[in-house]
Amino acid sequence: HMAEIETDVLIVGTGPAGSATAALLSSYGVENVAINRYRWLANTPRAHITNQRTMEVLRDLGREVEDEAYMHATEGDLMGNNVFCESLAGEELGRMLSWGNAPESRAEHLRSSPCHMNDLPQTFMEPLLFKTACSRGTQARMSTEYLRHVEDGEGVTTICRDRLTGREFEIRSKYLVGADGGNSAVAETCGLPFEGQMGVGGSMNILFRADLSRFVAHRPSVLYWVMQPGANVGGIGMGLVRMVRPWNEWLIVWGYDINEPAPVVDEAMATEVARQLVGDPKLEIELLSANTWTVNNMYATHMQTDRVFIMGDAAHRHPPSNGLGSNTSIQDAYNLAWKLAHVLKGPAGPGLLDSYSVERAPIAKQIVTRANQSIGEFGPIFEALGMTDSTDPEVMQANMDKRGEDSPAAEAQREALRKAIEFKKYEFDCHGVEMNQRYDSGAVVKDGQPDPGFDRDPELHYQPTTWPGARLPHCWLYRDDGTRVSTLDLCGKGRWTILTGIGGEAWADAAKTVAADTGVEIDVHVIGPRRAIEDHLGDWSRLRETTDAGAVMTRPDQHVCFRAAEMSDDPAAELRRVLDAILQPA
Ligand code: FDA
Repeated sequence: HMAEIETDVLIVGTGPAGSATAALLSSYGVENVAINRYRWLANTPRAHITNQRTMEVLRDLGREVEDEAYMHATEGDLMGNNVFCESLAGEELGRMLSWGNAPESRAEHLRSSPCHMNDLPQTFMEPLLFKTACSRGTQARMSTEYLRHVEDGEGVTTICRDRLTGREFEIRSKYLVGADGGNSAVAETCGLPFEGQMGVGGSMNILFRADLSRFVAHRPSVLYWVMQPGANVGGIGMGLVRMVRPWNEWLIVWGYDINEPAPVVDEAMATEVARQLVGDPKLEIELLSANTWTVNNMYATHMQTDRVFIMGDAAHRHPPSNGLGSNTSIQDAYNLAWKLAHVLKGPAGPGLLDSYSVERAPIAKQIVTRANQSIGEFGPIFEALGMTDSTDPEVMQANMDKRGEDSPAAEAQREALRKAIEFKKYEFDCHGVEMNQRYDSGAVVKDGQPDPGFDRDPELHYQPTTWPGARLPHCWLYRDDGTRVSTLDLCGKGRWTILTGIGGEAWADAAKTVAADTGVEIDVHVIGPRRAIEDHLGDWSRLRETTDAGAVMTRPDQHVCFRAAEMSDDPAAELRRVLDAILQPA
């Protein structure tokens, strides 16, 4: 029977991945339908940490989208006192300045992006992305469940169930995006390959309201780690008190033994856990919700078939450590959306789409591995506290208390604890993992230019480069009316861009020639004295790694796809070669 609905792209799921895809496709003028099995969006806060790269995607969707995110978010300077304590009311064991709040790290963040890190619960992020999508053209169908799909040479037929009537119906699309989360049925139907394991640990979430200002307002943070002997499975107690809204809405994350059945978290149990971690036996909470979840360590090694793509948690399943879940999901969308737009609107052949998995599957592996490794890296803290020498809570407590003694052993213990806490920067201040994504695929023209590698730890520190495949480095430039503009602001918006300098005007003429031939428009900005955009600070000249007349060319996702050290003898032929290689791969 005939499909009732036809569209160019069907998106399954309206989480961060699906809503971002819908918002981007609609912004690029591509027809799309998004379905969600539930009647509305996220009903619990879930992911919060929103990093600079994700904010750049929102900024590219429009300054109003970026501004609305900041309006709802808890600002970065309230995120930074990552506290380790015996309870919120009890002794503090140490702390680290996190999420770009250490002075050196703050400088790196300020240098790296026009955007800043913030804490935005998914209950705000999803509606923002979803509203942007729907207001720009996405047709959304709620209470509509994906059941299965069949792919053929011309498109995909997806069988859905309308959950209000129970009726099954078909949607026919040219492409299908599975943004359907960690139990992705789309990935399952495609039979895509995964590595790793699901369910390597058990956790429960307890969401509640209580004013905890008196314990936290003097050391504002999003995370408070509570280490309590005997308070948990295996004899080691660590719980997380996570700020949702400062300082009256909270999420407690508490482990349970994955080898036992998941506990039933009722009001009494939730209150008991909250009292224990907060350290206030009289604390009253308003329980909002409680649920259990498992720690996963699994990623897709290939994220697409010819016409079906998976993204977000459908492709990478990992614990919340490092706060990478929703960030990576939105960044997946930013990688795929412009490619779909270029194929559907004509200038690109379907081969361009192959670069999606080539570029994003290594990121999936990297972030799943990092997030799981971060859990293990609490180990040295437990060891330094003497919590691993015994399973007897009294011995553990005595070991922890020894760190206040005047003895060589206690001094060594204090040193070990300081080092163990500092080491957690790989979870709480891991700027390189957030910002260093460099692609290597057919959608990047590398041209034999040497890999700049990394001068410092690539997980901790972002290293700007215009090496093709890297995201365009940010710096501030100035328009002739005095307003400042980021290099990134000159790019994106679904368009191709060349940044050049004085003597590089021929790139603009070449771009016009190429646009006439290929239908791909390239914006060319000549940056320099007495030009429309000036580099008053000299930062762009330092970052660009080319001469004035050279060129740095970006794709619509702001990643550099080609670079010329100098003006080419035949710039039109050069651009033509680049676009053909990227858009019409063999
Ligand atoms: P996401 O799971 O958000 O969205 C999937 C979408 O697909 C939903 O709209 C769903 O309704 C829809 N869907 C699924 N199956 C469907 C079907 N068959 N038919 C139609 N629609 C279907 N991360 C973090 O960094 N910190 C945290 O604290 C938490 N906490 C947390 C708590 C809970 C309870 C969950 C479930 C998850 C987290 N996460 C988290 C993870 C974080 O939420 C996650 O990484 C992102 O939401 C991933 O975004 P996606 O869009 O990929 O999937």
